[in-house]
Amino acid sequence: MPAKILGIGSAIPDKVLTNKDFERYLDTSDEWIVTRTGIRERRIAPEGVLVSDLATEAAQKALAASGVDAQELDCIVVATATPDTIFPSTACWTQAKLGIKNIPAFDVTAGCSGFLYALITANGLVSGGTAKKVLVIGAEELSRVTNYDDRNTCVLFGDGAGAVVLEAANGDGRGVLATTWGADGSLGELLIQPAGGTRLQASRETVEKKQHTIQMAGNEVYRYAVKAMQQATLDVLEKSGVSADDIDLFVPHQANHRIITATAERAGVPMEKVLVTIDRYGNNSAASIPVALSDAVAEGRLKPGMLVMTAAFGAGFTWAAALIRW
Ligand code: ACO
Repeated sequence: MPAKILGIGSAIPDKVLTNKDFERYLDTSDEWIVTRTGIRERRIAPEGVLVSDLATEAAQKALAASGVDAQELDCIVVATATPDTIFPSTACWTQAKLGIKNIPAFDVTAGCSGFLYALITANGLVSGGTAKKVLVIGAEELSRVTNYDDRNTCVLFGDGAGAVVLEAANGDGRGVLATTWGADGSLGELLIQPAGGTRLQASRETVEKKQHTIQMAGNEVYRYAVKAMQQATLDVLEKSGVSADDIDLFVPHQANHRIITATAERAGVPMEKVLVTIDRYGNNSAASIPVALSDAVAEGRLKPGMLVMTAAFGAGFTWAAALIRW
């Protein structure tokens, strides 16, 4: 049996950073940002709020929506590119904040594809019988690794978290129906936080050169993102035998409105069925898909039994797609 989603929740910081805020100090404009990216504003976690805090809040909401007590969980998987600490994992910090012990907890690092990587991993754990109830979280504070003097990247990113609780489907047709995932590590340099790991250890020089922030070859990332998300979506449609017409909701990773439109067009899904949250949240990486799904549930746009396609692309490069009967 595949895993099905029992409930979902999200955590979105209150603080809003608008395009006008950038206009005040940077050579950019609201018009440029909206036209090229679709982003109008993004959320920023207040100082002192950690990624594990956002993850915990989203998890608590997902548990409540699922009617599951934290003590019933068998495993916690957190997707993040911006962990509280390199070790311990953000999953372990989150586990402690949820007040539980002993169950396995680990992070998945796959950039903006992180949530789908974590979901596919958890689906395997559930369908293989290794775990019964798994908490899957996508949580990010990209604001902490953004160079706010670099107009090429700083307008793109935001913070947030989304979480789901998975358990084995009971044969009613709901659950994760088909997935695909992949990576091409030879393209890693195109989207990277160069320093802070063992390759380029933290030093005065790495701080001065802002090498602890996101460096991105925007145009190349854009080209690969469109191709990989389109291909992943088509692969999952083919694997599942489902036609694009049958999809009720398409939830692509929210990196750029033009990437979203191009992916939907190639997949044959009309824009009325595509969830767009990038205007209000920017790109919050591994959090973008679960936050968008959570908003869709809250708005009554996503209901049990609906067919949802998700697709993502991120640092690595990585990509993934999953078709879910909600
Ligand atoms: N305001 C004004 N001008 C800008 C800004 C800005 N914020 N940013 C860049 N420009 C300028 C550039 O400097 C360039 O000027 P030049 O021609 O004088 O050199 C001009 O605008 C055009 O730049 P391009 O990079 O060609 O602009 P493009 O239309 O490609 O948009 C963007 C750039 C938005 C970054 C786009 O390439 C993109 O979305 N890339 C993909 C990003 C992405 O998907 N990341 C996903 C993964 S993130 C993760 O995994 C953590």
